[in-house]
Amino acid sequence: MTLKLGVNIDHVATLRNARKAAYPDPIDAAAICLAAGADFIVVHLRKDQRHITQKDVEQLCKLFPGKIHLECAATDFAEKIALKCKPHSVCIVPEVPGEVTTTGGLKFTPAVQKRIFSMVEKLHKKHILVSLFIDPVAADLRVAARLGADIVELCTRQYSEAKTAKQCQKQVQDLALSALLAQELGMQVHAGHGLDYHNVLAVADIGGISCMNIGFSIITRSLFAGLPSAVEEMKNLL
Ligand code: PXP
Repeated sequence: MTLKLGVNIDHVATLRNARKAAYPDPIDAAAICLAAGADFIVVHLRKDQRHITQKDVEQLCKLFPGKIHLECAATDFAEKIALKCKPHSVCIVPEVPGEVTTTGGLKFTPAVQKRIFSMVEKLHKKHILVSLFIDPVAADLRVAARLGADIVELCTRQYSEAKTAKQCQKQVQDLALSALLAQELGMQVHAGHGLDYHNVLAVADIGGISCMNIGFSIITRSLFAGLPSAVEEMKNLL
């Protein structure tokens, strides 16, 4: 299976918004990433729109049909925009106000499950694939399958933050077992969060993962190496 790469370009928008300027433009970034070999462009539309804005999502979906993977929380605001813009896929993530970045997978309380189930139904009616961002835990994989997810994105945060070789090995094992179970449950497997040029290989080697979604390491490397090189280098590692 060829491993696909989704490049998260949120931090291009972070830089633009820091100066309240019109550039760097995420649309230019998306075009460059795709030309350099990225398979998908990932954007996280947060409630506070602190990086990617509704307008960005509208333009990106219009200009790059079939290429935009939208991350968002299960809120009325995000749902409305997703249904209107019709990205290739939507990854539902937990969102905590004020968090620096997504801190982990969805916590499937009954209320969360009910909300996600209704969002999945609506997205499916518009032929949008649905991914759920979860920790590599068997019980959560089973809930994701019950809710109708097409894809699970396994959160690699704990792996990327592992301090010892033993912790690292345990995280890789959990990810590998989860990738296997997800496939048995009929879902595609993605992985992402905290992956960089050094730690990506162990995850890339896990069979059954079809796409890695990577942002911070690629965008920060692009400051020194240029965006095409940063994307090409990551794609070559996969
Ligand atoms: N996947 C998901 C679901 C995320 O929330 C993020 C962070 O926005 C990423 C992947 C990319 O993480 P990073 O920027 O650490 O590569």
